[in-house]
Amino acid sequence: MRVTIFGATGLLGKALIQEWSEDEVTGFGAKDADIRDLAQIRSAVERTRPEWIINAAAYTDVDGCESNRELAFAVNHRGAVNVAEVAKALGARLLFIGTDYVFDGLSTTPYETDHPRAPKSVYGKSKAQAEEEIGKLLADACIARTSWLFGVGGRCFPDTILKLAASRSEIDVVDDQRGSPTHAPDLARAVISLCRAGAKGIVHATNSGDCTWFEFAREIAKGAGLNTVIQPTTSDRFVRPAERPKYSVLSPRSLNQYGIVMPHWKDALQNYLAARHAAASQV
Ligand SMILES: NC(=O)c1ccc[n+]([C@@H]2O[C@H](COP(=O)([O-])OP(=O)(O)OC[C@H]3O[C@@H](n4cnc5c(N)ncnc54)[C@H](OP(=O)(O)O)[C@@H]3O)[C@@H](O)[C@H]2O)c1
Repeated sequence: MRVTIFGATGLLGKALIQEWSEDEVTGFGAKDADIRDLAQIRSAVERTRPEWIINAAAYTDVDGCESNRELAFAVNHRGAVNVAEVAKALGARLLFIGTDYVFDGLSTTPYETDHPRAPKSVYGKSKAQAEEEIGKLLADACIARTSWLFGVGGRCFPDTILKLAASRSEIDVVDDQRGSPTHAPDLARAVISLCRAGAKGIVHATNSGDCTWFEFAREIAKGAGLNTVIQPTTSDRFVRPAERPKYSVLSPRSLNQYGIVMPHWKDALQNYLAARHAAASQV
C-alpha cells in the first residue's frame, strides 16, 4: 500500500512515520507541501500516488487560533478541504485527524460519533467546518477524532509538567476539565489499523480511561518519581484566550467496531516516560 502523510513533522505525524512499516510511506511537512496551496498538494499526491492520504496537518495552537482566525480557517478548514478535493480528484482514500474540540464540553457521558458538533473555540470551529465539508465531498472519508495528544519530541502537557517540576516544589493544575490523554504512537497504530481495515465515517480514537488535567499531572509526577506537589485548581483561575471543553471524553465504540482497542492512558504514560528517558540518555 502507498501512503502519503501531510503534517508528517508534527507530534502525530512523526509517530506515524515511526510506526508505519511494510507499506510505502511518504511524509510532508508544511515546508514541503503547504495544504493552503491546492497546487502543492496536488503535486505531492501526483508524485506519490497513494492509496491512502493521512491529513495530520493543522494549526494546533488553540489560543493562537483565537487571535489568528484567518490562519486557523485557512489551514484547518480550507487546507483540509484542499486535501480532500485532491484525494477525490486522484482517487485516494482520505483519513482526516479530527478533535474533541468540535464538542461543547457540556456532556457528562462519553461523546458518540453522531453527537452534534457545537465547537466553542475558533480552533474547534475551523476543524468542525472541515469535518462537515469533507463528509459532503467524500462519502468514504474516515475522520479519526482524538484528544489530549502527547508524545516524545513535541510540545505536550507531560513535557510541560516535567519541565515545570524541575524548578518548582508546587504546581497548580485545573481539576475541572475531563478528557482522555492519548499517546501519539498508540494513535498512530490505531490510524494504521483503520486504513488497513478500510475504515470510513467518523471514528473516535483515544487512549482508554479518562482523567482531569490535575489527575494527569499527578500521575506524571508520580511516574517520574518527582516530589513536586500537584495542587488542584479551577479553570476560572487560569483564564485563557480559547475556551476549553469541560468534558471531552470520546466513546471508543466506533473504534472497537473495527476490533481496535487502545491501551489505558496510565499504561501509555508509562511508555511515554520510558521513551522520554531513553531519548534523553541518547543526547
Ligand atoms: N495536539 C493535540 O492535543 C490534539 C488533540 C486533538 C486533535 N489533534 C489533531 O491531531 C492532528 C495532529 O496534531 P499534532 O499535535 O501532531 O500537531 P503538531 O505537532 O502541531 O503538528 C502540526 C503539523 O501540521 C503541519 N502544518 C501546519 N500548518 C501547515 C500547513 N499550512 N500546511 C501543511 N502542513 C502544515 C506542521 O508542519 P511544520 O512542522 O512543517 O510546521 C506539522 O507537521 C491535527 O489534526 C490536530 O488538529 C491534536
